[in-house]
Amino acid sequence: MRLSVIDHPLVAHKLTALRDRGTDSPTFRRLADELVTLLAYEATRDVAVEPHPITTPVGPTTGVRIRSPKPIVVPILRAGLGMLDGMVRLLPTAEVGFLGMLRDEETLQAKTYANRLPDDLTGRHCFVLDPMLATGGTLVSSITYLLDRGARDVTALCLLAAPEGLEVVRRAFDEHAQVTVVTAAVDERLDENGYIVPGLGDAGDRLYG
Ligand code: PRP
Repeated sequence: MRLSVIDHPLVAHKLTALRDRGTDSPTFRRLADELVTLLAYEATRDVAVEPHPITTPVGPTTGVRIRSPKPIVVPILRAGLGMLDGMVRLLPTAEVGFLGMLRDEETLQAKTYANRLPDDLTGRHCFVLDPMLATGGTLVSSITYLLDRGARDVTALCLLAAPEGLEVVRRAFDEHAQVTVVTAAVDERLDENGYIVPGLGDAGDRLYG
């Protein structure tokens, strides 16, 4: 697994506002949207492209375009939905598939309750969107599922990650160079309820009430 922590003053500034408990839902949604576009720039660094000949007003040249099969963006419901618009704005040709996962607040185990993905994931690059990487259970389940279905690369975009959860993901995908986590920050720790500290609270609740 590869890890990329975005070290950028704009990201840090927006993340600070996102964490603030005084930030209301509309502002939280806007900040999450802005942050994901900044993370997406880094997360799409390895997206596959192919040569594409064009003619400018001055003459012919060869540029690139995103290669088929199209990448797939997979928001993890519900909180990942708050990252979808920002991601597809940058990657408008991507297909979108949905995974609904809920973490049991007692056992902290992730359960899948909805699954609507394109039929064929063979050789595809999947971008998983989930604002929080806490214990890592949700991300390990979703990445494992996508790889089992044939995905070639899986890049997860998380606004925040806990060191404990990152370690769980790293252990699960130790051998998988094609699994990448891109996050805006690695926080201090998890508390006894599985919340990221200092974190930002419950992203789903702050987005959708
Ligand atoms: C939260 C969060 C992640 C998951 C992270 O979702 O959005 O999906 O928990 O936890 P983990 O790393 O310990 O598995 P939640 O289950 O609260 O659902 P929601 O998005 O519907 O609020």
